[in-house]
Amino acid sequence: MDESTGKRKSIPAHVGIVMDGNGRWAKHRFLPRVIGHQAGMKAMERTIDNAKDLGIRYLSLYAFSTENWKRSRSEVQGLMGLFRYYLKGKMESMHRRGARVRFVGHIDAFPDDIRDIVKAAMERTEDNSDIDVIFCVNYGGRQEIVDAVKRLMAQEIEGPITEEMLCRLMYAPDVPDPDLLIRTAGELRMSNFWLWEGAYSEYFFTDVYWPDFDRSELERAIESYAGRERRYGTA
Ligand code: IPE
Ligand code: IPE
Ligand code: MG
Repeated sequence: MDESTGKRKSIPAHVGIVMDGNGRWAKHRFLPRVIGHQAGMKAMERTIDNAKDLGIRYLSLYAFSTENWKRSRSEVQGLMGLFRYYLKGKMESMHRRGARVRFVGHIDAFPDDIRDIVKAAMERTEDNSDIDVIFCVNYGGRQEIVDAVKRLMAQEIEGPITEEMLCRLMYAPDVPDPDLLIRTAGELRMSNFWLWEGAYSEYFFTDVYWPDFDRSELERAIESYAGRERRYGTA
């Protein structure tokens, strides 16, 4: 414990989550996939509260990947409907909770009304500083790197190209790299999440489906993280 703040010192500053398993959660209950996504939204709200409570400063949530367009039309439409509902209904309470809401990814591919609400939510909450909640929507780690390279090519570059130059051109350059990346539902992969930023992240995998992810599971992940030694290549 840090005596001055009462918070544990080993709390990661930035936690990223691949929120996976909504479909399987629903399937086990003989329910349509969209009901799983609905339950996933509740888990997301709960996790934002728990993260803030535990002193996590940045929480990034992988909500829709650049590859998720490959799903059925009805599932994609169902997800869009849920985003719309969530964004309209929950942003004010996110603001009251002191959360700064951010979105990274190609939002331009989304329907106009969703883009408008996204913009309004970012503006409404931009001065909040209790926790940054970064929704990764239509996000792909490879796409992010391609976008950074394109922006670099559009500049007049003097001297050699460095890692720092590219770092500054990523989607959220002010956000520290994720300390801890969590994936639910038993798959042992990152599926194109934070490819550049996750170079030295610690990974935590759990079999729990995302709709069942609760405070004890988040605490378990943090506990595991706290017991690790991060060496960054040193001896
Ligand atoms: C994650 O749950 C949510 C999104 C990718 C939008 P899935 O829908 O991938 O759930 P499973 O993997 O099929 O169980
Ligand atoms: C990763 O989950 C993307 C999100 C959680 C948004 P997927 O379910 O799309 O990943 P794969 O297909 O199992 O790799
Ligand atoms: Mg999945």
